[in-house]
Amino acid sequence: MKEKSTIREEMKKTLGNMDPLSHEAKCKAIHEKLFASNEWQDAQTIAVTISRFPEVDTEAIIMRAWHEGKKVAVPKCFPNNKGMEFYFLENFNQLESVYFGLKEPIVTEVEICLKEKLEFILVPGLIFDEEGYRVGFGGGYYDRYLVDYTRSKVALAFTEQLVKKVPTDHYDIPVHKIVTNEVVYDCTIRK
Ligand SMILES: Nc1ncnc2c1ncn2[C@@H]1O[C@H](COP(=O)(O)OP(=O)(O)OP(=O)(O)O)[C@@H](O)[C@H]1O
Ligand SMILES: [Mg+2]
Repeated sequence: MKEKSTIREEMKKTLGNMDPLSHEAKCKAIHEKLFASNEWQDAQTIAVTISRFPEVDTEAIIMRAWHEGKKVAVPKCFPNNKGMEFYFLENFNQLESVYFGLKEPIVTEVEICLKEKLEFILVPGLIFDEEGYRVGFGGGYYDRYLVDYTRSKVALAFTEQLVKKVPTDHYDIPVHKIVTNEVVYDCTIRK
């Protein structure tokens, strides 16, 4: 099996080649499936990243959540100890660009959101399999954060990001559900 780092780079290329119009249409299909899910409908507080093209767009998700009166928490990574914390985002002016053009909340302008407040976490990733295993962006931030997180973990992905089996390490934590532009996989059903 190929290494995580190899397939990560291959998938970044594949996604980067996606036509912007088809990217937009697929994002919309994913959004509609997410908004129809129990996890979404039951939650008052959600955790979501700030996406960058060609990832599945999350700006529309954040706006929809605000519109529905949900609270939105976004992550900030702390590279020195590989820690990550979520903060309540109330508007996009509370974000700043950090490394690699990644946007994160400005900590002096937002309030921290403790893990137990998060009703579900939208977990980012590049490649997924039907068991919910995931190859992320390689920092291990989510794998660490999720160690003691017991509620729902949902991933959003384009069909192209699904493979039969991803390489895993003992510390990898699978998601419960994957919402793609075509289907919703319940990864808790044993195959
Ligand atoms: N629970 C953990 N405790 C300590 N280190 C961890 C833990 N989970 C992962 N790591 C470390 O994080 C590094 C990156 O892991 P991996 O390649 O699986 O990242 P990833 O899943 O792509 O990233 P992310 O979780 O941020 O999406 C690995 O070197 C691993 O040792
Ligand atoms: Mg991992």
